[in-house]
Amino acid sequence: MDLIPADTRDSAMLGDVEALYVSSFPDGLRAPFSDLFQDDVTVAVIDGAVAGLAVSRDLADTPWVFLRYFAVATRGRGLGTVLWRQLCHRWAAQHRSRVLLDVEDPDEADIDRDEQTLRRRRISFYERLGVQVLPIRDYAPPHQAATHRLRLLAAGTHAASTAPLPAAHLQDIVLAVYRHRYGLPADHPAVHRTLRSSGLLDPERPQV
Ligand SMILES: CC(C)(COP(=O)(O)OP(=O)(O)OC[C@H]1O[C@@H](n2cnc3c(N)ncnc32)[C@H](O)[C@@H]1OP(=O)(O)O)[C@@H](O)C(=O)NCCC(=O)NCCS
Repeated sequence: MDLIPADTRDSAMLGDVEALYVSSFPDGLRAPFSDLFQDDVTVAVIDGAVAGLAVSRDLADTPWVFLRYFAVATRGRGLGTVLWRQLCHRWAAQHRSRVLLDVEDPDEADIDRDEQTLRRRRISFYERLGVQVLPIRDYAPPHQAATHRLRLLAAGTHAASTAPLPAAHLQDIVLAVYRHRYGLPADHPAVHRTLRSSGLLDPERPQV
C-alpha cells in the first residue's frame, strides 16, 4: 500500500476517491467533497487502484493531528489496520505525537440495533489498534450530523497506550479540537457544556 497526497489535477483519481468517500459515509456525515481539500487528503493506492482515504488536519499550535475521515475500499480484510499503521508512522515522522478523531456514539438513544452494532464494531476496530475512547461527555460539535451524539477518541502515533490521560491533557484536547477542527472558541456554550459534563472546568483558565 502506497500513501500519496490526492492530486487535484488527476480527475480519474479524484473520481475514484469521491466514489469511495460517498460509499463510505452516509449523507448526514458528509461535507461537500470539495471541502475535504481544505485539509490533507491522503489516498492509499494498491496496484494503481484507490484502496483507502484519510482526511486529516494538523491542529494548529498543538503537536496533534485530527483525523476527519478514514475509509477503505474493501472492508474486513485488514486494509484499515494497515492504513492506520502507515498513517501513524507518517504522522510520528512529522512530529505529530497524537491523533484525535470522533465517531458516532453507540449508546445514543433511538438508534436501531443494526446501527448500534455498526458503531460498536467501528469502536472495537479502533480499540484493537490502541485507540482510547476518551472519558468526555456531552461532546457535540456543530456538524452535519448535529442530531448524532459523538465520542472523542485519541491515540499516540508512536505507541499505543492504555494509560488514562490526565485531566489537564483532556481539557487541552477538548479545547484544541473544538477550536481548530470546528472553529469554536473556548467560551462557546458547546465547549463549556462538554468541559462541565466531563468534570474538566478549570477555574484557573479565565477564558472558559
Ligand atoms: C472502519 C474501517 C476503516 C475498518 O477497516 P477494515 O479494513 O474493514 O478493518 P480490518 O479488516 O482491519 O478490521 C476489521 C474490523 O473493522 C471493523 N469493521 C469492519 N467493517 C466495518 C464496517 N462496515 N463499519 C464499521 N466497522 C467495520 C470491525 O471492527 C471489524 O472487526 P469484526 O469483523 O471483528 O467486527 C472500514 O470498515 C471502513 O472503511 N468503514 C467505512 C468508513 C468508516 O466507518 N470509517 C470510520 C469512521 S471515520
